[in-house]
Parts: sequence; structure tokens; C-alpha cells
Amino acid sequence: MSSLVYLNGEIIAEDRASVSILDRGFMFGDGVYEVIPVYGGKAFRKDEHLQRLQRSIDAVKMQNPLSDQQWTEVFERLIDSNCPGTDAVIYLQVTRGRMPVRLHAYSDGLQPTSLVMCWSHTYSSQDSDTKGVRAVTLEDTRWSDCYIKSVNLLPNVLLRQQAVDQGAAESILIRDGYAVEGAASNLFIVKDELIRTPPKSRYMLGGITRDLVIELCHENRIVVQEKIISEDQLHDADEIWITSSTQEIVPVTTLNQHKVGKGVPGEKWNRVIGLYQEYKQSVMRM
Ligand code: PDD
Repeated sequence: MSSLVYLNGEIIAEDRASVSILDRGFMFGDGVYEVIPVYGGKAFRKDEHLQRLQRSIDAVKMQNPLSDQQWTEVFERLIDSNCPGTDAVIYLQVTRGRMPVRLHAYSDGLQPTSLVMCWSHTYSSQDSDTKGVRAVTLEDTRWSDCYIKSVNLLPNVLLRQQAVDQGAAESILIRDGYAVEGAASNLFIVKDELIRTPPKSRYMLGGITRDLVIELCHENRIVVQEKIISEDQLHDADEIWITSSTQEIVPVTTLNQHKVGKGVPGEKWNRVIGLYQEYKQSVMRM
């Protein structure tokens, strides 16, 4: 049976949902999105994701088609029908909508296209047997407004694919000699017991998972610095982690051809992933 999706005010079967070929999302990648984790049937850090959605919408001068309350009702309906009580992912996309002609510049007053989907997902970063993943470093070829969660993901797609083609899970992107983030994740390193992550800037997406990791570290008196990471510091790190809503916190144990630290998930990762899992459990009980 086809799952249900939300499209422009209606909940319908996924295989019946369609948008115009003149939708600006299809023509230009003119839209923004969110990916929200769902644990035990509950959207996790929903308010933070909806706030980031609003920031992306404002940055590209669109209108938010729904209120936070309306988005929340859509999420609940899709979770209940597609994956009740389980772990899942919500995908939300808003494009600038359909224009009758293909022109780069847009007209005022277009009706945005809104889409929400929800599917089951297995989160595996708590797996204590994890060996970690391999990452490669690549030059960041993206634009300069990476803080916008734009559906225009061609550079990210190509950069991730280059990693996969080399047998790696992620590419860590280097801009002007500094490591900024992954193709679809944020970056943390550990050196001499100190955790470090690049400060937010226009060159990276401010991850909701990243923010939570920092928050949990602060609450537990674990020092974490928001400081730039040079490519040399990345290569010299004792631990490297990547974070995202779909992957949580993943240890990188091989960078390019070399082991990171001892080549196994590190002590600090163990501690922080433990805190993350505890926090998840506490939110699910609420
Ligand atoms: N991507 N940086 C980039 C470029 C990303 O695409 C993502 C997530 C992150 C991590 O953000 P968050 O912790 O809020 O998920 C950082 C999602 C998962 C995706 O595009 O599928």
C-alpha cells in the first residue's frame, strides 16, 4: 500500500501526488526543506526545525504557507498513518510554487507548493559494535549561502557521491584551508580531550543535531569549543564525528587513507552518544 503524503492542503496517497513541471522547485531548485527525526512516534526537536524552516523561508523571501500548529498537525497525521509509534523521518519541502513561464526572476504572490512525507527509519548510531565510518576530504564547491536549507543540492549530491565512489560514507568539505562540515552533516573533532566544532557561519548549515550535542556537553560540563578547524587540525584529530538528524552522531575512524586516532570510535564519542541516547529516551517518555 502506498504511504500517505501531505501536498498543498491534502493528505493523499504518495503515488497520486504530483506537482506541475513548471513548479519552480523542479525548474530551479527554488525551495527549502527540513528533515526531522521521529523517535517512538514523536517528532524530535520539532520547534527548532520549524524555526530553522522559517529562517530559510525568510532568507529566500518566500512566505511560510502553514503555521507551526498546522505543520505539527500534518506531522502527527502522517506519523499516525504511515509509521505509528516507531522511529521515522519527516521530510518537509516548500517551493516558491508554479509560474506559468520559465523565468529566473519570480512574480509576487505565487502560491507556494508544500509537501510533507514521513517514512520509517532505523537510527543506528547507538550501536555499541559500530566501527565508525570512513570520510574523505574534498574542496567545498558549494555557494556562499550554505546556512539556507535549500533543495538546490546538486553540489552536495556530487560531493557525497564522490565520497561513496571512493568507498567512504561522507566527504568533509574544505573551504579556504578550513574544514566546515560534511556534504550532509556537521563536523566535530576531539584533540587532547577538547571537543571542537566550527562556529556557525554562512558557509555551513546550522545543524539541529549539532546544537543539541553542544547543549548536552554544556549541561554535563564537557568542554566544547566553537572554533574554526584548519585542515591540518582535522588530520591531526584524535576523534572526528559527523552529526545529522538522520545519522545522529557518527564516529569517523578513517580519514582518506589514514586512521583517526586509534582507528576505533573514541572515548569522547562514547560519552556523548550515551548522553544523546539518554536525552532521546527522556523526551520520548514526556
Ligand atoms: N541534512 N549540514 C548539511 C549540509 C546538511 O545537509 C545537514 C543535514 C546537516 C545536519 O543538520 P541537522 O543536524 O539539522 O540534520 C549539516 C539532512 C539530514 C538531509 O539533507 O537529508
